[in-house]
Amino acid sequence: MNSTQEQLKLKLTQALVAAFGTDYTNTDPILVSASNPKFGDYQANVALSLSKKLGKPPRIIAGEIVNKLDVSDICEPPEIAGPGFINLKLQTSYLEAQLNAIQLDSRLGIPKATIPQKQIVDFSSPNIAKEMHVGHLRSTIIGDSIARILEFCGHDVLRLNHVGDWGTQFGMLITYLREVYPEALTTANALNIGDLVNFYRQAKQRFDEDPVFQESSRQEVVRLQAGAEDTLHAWKLLCEQSRQEFKIIYDLLNIQLIERGESFYNPLLSKVVENLAATGLLESSQGAKCVFLDGFTNREGNPLPLIVQKSDGGYNYATTDLAALGYRIQEDKAKRIVYVTDEGQSNHFAQFFQVAKKANWIPDDVELVHVPFGLVLGEDGKKFKTRSGDTVRLRDLLDEAINRARADIEKRLQEDGRTETEEFIQNVAEVVGISAVKYADLSQNRTSSYVFSYDKMLSLKGNTAPYLLYAYVRIQGISRQGNIDFTNLGINRQILLKEDAELTLAKHLLQLDEVIKEVEQDLLPNRLCDYLYQLSDKFNKFYENCPVLKSEEPARTSRLMLCDLTAKTLKLGLSLLGIKVLERM
Ligand code: ARG
Repeated sequence: MNSTQEQLKLKLTQALVAAFGTDYTNTDPILVSASNPKFGDYQANVALSLSKKLGKPPRIIAGEIVNKLDVSDICEPPEIAGPGFINLKLQTSYLEAQLNAIQLDSRLGIPKATIPQKQIVDFSSPNIAKEMHVGHLRSTIIGDSIARILEFCGHDVLRLNHVGDWGTQFGMLITYLREVYPEALTTANALNIGDLVNFYRQAKQRFDEDPVFQESSRQEVVRLQAGAEDTLHAWKLLCEQSRQEFKIIYDLLNIQLIERGESFYNPLLSKVVENLAATGLLESSQGAKCVFLDGFTNREGNPLPLIVQKSDGGYNYATTDLAALGYRIQEDKAKRIVYVTDEGQSNHFAQFFQVAKKANWIPDDVELVHVPFGLVLGEDGKKFKTRSGDTVRLRDLLDEAINRARADIEKRLQEDGRTETEEFIQNVAEVVGISAVKYADLSQNRTSSYVFSYDKMLSLKGNTAPYLLYAYVRIQGISRQGNIDFTNLGINRQILLKEDAELTLAKHLLQLDEVIKEVEQDLLPNRLCDYLYQLSDKFNKFYENCPVLKSEEPARTSRLMLCDLTAKTLKLGLSLLGIKVLERM
């Protein structure tokens, strides 16, 4: 099924062609949601944009379009307003038919992409032996939601974790490992070296103060690159330790990812530099191999090169990204590659995309997108830190959210004099806590920084996960209260729309596909959050104005169906944000 908006666009285009000829086949009818519901549901503004070209007043053009426009199966007769807007109001019978049709469809009538694509989402991507910080949390949450939406659209999505598991820091780490856990380099069993972040700090300290240690570290890098057995063993051990810590977070957040770290591309790096040299783009600068591009300058205004090989022969983050890009295009056959990182890396992505384009490595049908996001701030508006000024460990952050959600539910149970099992309470706490963290992040326009506030994100009021989860629970409550089986509402089930609140809710329910299509393009999950927030709001207004269980047939069944469809829409929408619903809370 095509969305209402698409059907109307198509019909408007047909009318344009009928009125002005085939030159207008690709003219955008400029169909937008009506600015004021008084005037209808949509308005087409194309007449205004054609006035100059056709040499006629827009109202006349609008009239000529409307004469050829046949939307009688969807809309009331179109009206021309103001300087030449074409106002369209959806017919109630059309809305009813649409709702009745999507009711039973597991995709709620939302079609898959006509051309499914291989798409890669590169997200999360923490660094081995370093802390997985709130920036990685944002990347994980946003990247997962984007991947879910693209998957739902029917694309073949490869979720890649571009883990930072290679680089000169391993020389230092392995040298330190030799000092403090010599047995680690030979024993077969992985042993627990405890807090890796601390370990990293100590290794760094040794490195900074001891030139002999520095020299050993450099040699260790050489040994690692040459594949020396004991060094490789130590490297694997460090990676495995980090991986276990990352997994705790991924399990808590329910995230699926395929690890393909930087080390994977290591064998391809020399070739990248070679190929780049062959394009003539490569220049030598102070012994390093670089590409200089117009428009990239540092703070002093001097040209800022993309360095692909350092003077000591070592490769860079950018070299790895260029190699990964080639691999993803040639081997993975990706047509769209999406990178989710903090906006601090925007320059890096712009620069290496540009280099790859200049080198002619990007076929015309491949799209590269950097999806940047802003910072997470503390309630004081500064960088998010613990009270003692340390960086917040993700594990602690998520536990805290769960604990607070648990305190909330225990308080509510006490107030209501309800008793529930421990299992129930723990499950609600986990779902609410994790959802709250995810939703707080996703509901912001990702390019802005946001203030991390447990109180706000766990509130039952406002644009929060608990508010949305509660709307869903409320609907399940109606079915329990009335002993209603939503899957079995009888054969004469029909949605019939009479009251304004019903119509408003109905129209909103039918807009999910438009929203999903937008997010598929612009990769802004906050649009979906807004949609769901408004849906809950419109549902609550409907529920306040239209009695459900107490009304007479056929309104009663119709309203139950609207409730059920709202619940299904919430459940589907939330699942695309990586959020599970609760039947009770
Ligand atoms: N490991 C990097 C970091 O922690 C993120 C990697 C993003 N992906 C990429 N292909 N560069 O900042």
